[in-house]
Amino acid sequence: MKRNNLLETIKQLANEIKDTTIRERRYFHQHPELSFRETETTRKIVEILTEIGLTDIKSGFKGTQAGVVADLQGDLGPGRTVALRADIDALPIREENPRIDYSSVNDGVMHACGHDGHTAALLGAVRVLYQLKDTLAGRIRFIFQPSEELAEDSGAAAMIEEGVLDGVDAIFGLHLWSPYETGIIGYNKGCMTASSDKWTVEITGRGGHASSPDLTVDPIPVACNFVNMLQNIVSREVSSLERVVVTAAKIQAGNAFNVIPDRCVVQGTVRAFEMETRKMVSERITQIAEGICSAMRCKADVDYFFGLPPTVNDAEFSLMAAEVARELFSGDKVKECEASMGAEDMGLYLQRVPGAYFLVGSGNQDKKTHYQHHTSSFNLDEDVLPSAVSLLSSVATKYLTNHSND
Ligand code: NI
Repeated sequence: MKRNNLLETIKQLANEIKDTTIRERRYFHQHPELSFRETETTRKIVEILTEIGLTDIKSGFKGTQAGVVADLQGDLGPGRTVALRADIDALPIREENPRIDYSSVNDGVMHACGHDGHTAALLGAVRVLYQLKDTLAGRIRFIFQPSEELAEDSGAAAMIEEGVLDGVDAIFGLHLWSPYETGIIGYNKGCMTASSDKWTVEITGRGGHASSPDLTVDPIPVACNFVNMLQNIVSREVSSLERVVVTAAKIQAGNAFNVIPDRCVVQGTVRAFEMETRKMVSERITQIAEGICSAMRCKADVDYFFGLPPTVNDAEFSLMAAEVARELFSGDKVKECEASMGAEDMGLYLQRVPGAYFLVGSGNQDKKTHYQHHTSSFNLDEDVLPSAVSLLSSVATKYLTNHSND
């Protein structure tokens, strides 16, 4: 089969199953589950994979019943292994989408990031690739990953630990993206998302009556000074050409207007792209906290947690994905995108195996699917699902055919 014919075939197959993909996406949307509790979602995915004809299926990771990995072997013999990854978890948000008849039935839980669409699109790719397996040499591994939303308890980390990347030569994934208009494909030759670290500073003084501050060591003004001093790290100590965020996002102290508390806890995050910068910032946060506390008679306990790494694409694979997208859709739909300061545990796979992560626009003002991710009104323009299915299927086949003679 000629290359272009193959892409045309993929596009056609993806369009033929559009109704199924949308129906499945709505099922997942209606039954959202929180991170590492995606039991029903997992059961449904396994059921669909089995129905399609896959036999090599493993489910349940990190001692839970969440997450699925399944392999499809091409009929033309062994070869490379390419992985396609989708995340499957939802968020603790109460859905406010009165217009749709498939709103969440799990109160307070919602697919507000589009992972329902990712799951359905990957299942669509399984359907398409299963029909093409007699044209393929090599293996495709489908990763349905739980817990993307919990940075501190990453599903990618758990799956990698349990071997999902063993034997994998390349990996691809996508995120449906409401800030982009439906059908726009965003690719990036390097950093796609930043690292995400979490820090906690506990400032301990000595509490007492609010009317006698002189008899106490008040941790609250110390915490305020600390938060102000933090602002100097990015503005005065990091090169203006580098992108770094230091945010204090949470301050907790006290219970009453007339009691000075013993302690104040400040918590926040650091986003960056370079390990060296992360280390420098973590040291400066510690020094600033300890310095201010010692000057102000308090004690500082600093905990800095190096969380997710940045998501860094392989330039060659990104360009390959972009080329496939241009062949599938019109060239003006494909654009190079900026790195985001958000985080994504896709970076953990890409640290170990080369590949690419890309964005697929799902925003449409008329259909009200342009609201931000992680909000109660978020929704997807389902018309983009066949494009997501074709893109995933095409990058996998392109990778395998490019390497069929290795
Ligand atoms: Ni997401």
